Amino acid sequence: MTDKRLRSFSGIQPSGKIHIGNYTGALKPWVDAQDEVDGIYCVVDLHALTASDREPRKSVGEQSREVAALYLACGLDPKASTIFLQSEVWTHPYLSWVFETQVPLGWLTRMTQFKSKANETDSVPTALLTYPVLQAADILLYDAEIVPVGEDQKQHIEIARDIAQRFNSTYGSAFVLPEPKIGVHGSRIMALDEPTVKMSKSRALVNRGHSIGITDDPDAISRTIRRAVTDSGTSVDVQNAGAGIRNLLNIYRSFSGESDQEASARFDGKGYGVLKNELAELLVDALAPIRSEYQRLLAERLYLNDVLNEGQERAFRLSTEKVACVLEILGLRG
Ligand code: AMP
Ligand code: TRP
Repeated sequence: MTDKRLRSFSGIQPSGKIHIGNYTGALKPWVDAQDEVDGIYCVVDLHALTASDREPRKSVGEQSREVAALYLACGLDPKASTIFLQSEVWTHPYLSWVFETQVPLGWLTRMTQFKSKANETDSVPTALLTYPVLQAADILLYDAEIVPVGEDQKQHIEIARDIAQRFNSTYGSAFVLPEPKIGVHGSRIMALDEPTVKMSKSRALVNRGHSIGITDDPDAISRTIRRAVTDSGTSVDVQNAGAGIRNLLNIYRSFSGESDQEASARFDGKGYGVLKNELAELLVDALAPIRSEYQRLLAERLYLNDVLNEGQERAFRLSTEKVACVLEILGLRG
């Protein structure tokens, strides 16, 4: 019997501090859809080599295992989804190289993420420029139809689609065109200390009030919410809410699953303190089981190895078939 489920592919870099935006924008949608899709979820450790926000006290390998444990702790079931480390499947950088021979430089120099990251440093690594090509290879190796990500990844999925389209029109159909899957709520959570900027893993490392980590303890969660920047008033005005209150309401909706109307009715006219208390309670309840499962899994080294080995085997099998097909099409074989 052929598998009619949509193929879903996504990944998170093992860098910085994984936060509630990563959860609502990526991990939760992966888990919610896992019975309906054929999900492949990668820890993109090769991408993390470009990150300026690597945890200084940990190796990328250590952080990768932690992120894999977090995938499981958030509810990904390795029997239903494939979970693996990018660096353990060499077809990824291999196909990326092949794409680099086809992708016009101008497509990469105009990417917003490249422009902003290149501005932050004097010595720009080449891989910062080719980052979206490796991401395209990640996705296109597996014929993924959907890519569940947060809002900030939209441009990266579009370029993956453009790369597939260009390759298909030059050489004949080889790749499935992927679609970004971006949720209505939770796909762009803003910083708690500065609600006009996106919550980011790197700022979270230097600024304690910036984000809530998925594995933060209840005290840290409550403290960060209590200190979160609000609007200038004292009570919630849903219609005219500014960035701070909009963000808190949005986080509340993403975690409670309530509709806009329900969340509005619950908080409209109430003091900011009420919203903050209920939000802190909701987050503590939602994150406590993830935190304890995460700690349990980190101690289960052999189990985690088994999950990653199984994931690696499937990813390797699927992706080498695709690479063989690409080499054939390009005329590198016979
Ligand atoms: P990254 O932190 O760049 O490795 O992102 C991992 C996943 O989390 C991607 O799908 C991002 O789009 C998503 N993500 C990152 N930051 C946020 C945020 N502030 N709100 C919602 N989703 C986010
Ligand atoms: N660039 C993505 C991010 O920073 C991570 C990523 C790498 C990814 N490869 C991917 C996401 C493939 C989705 C699909 O969030």
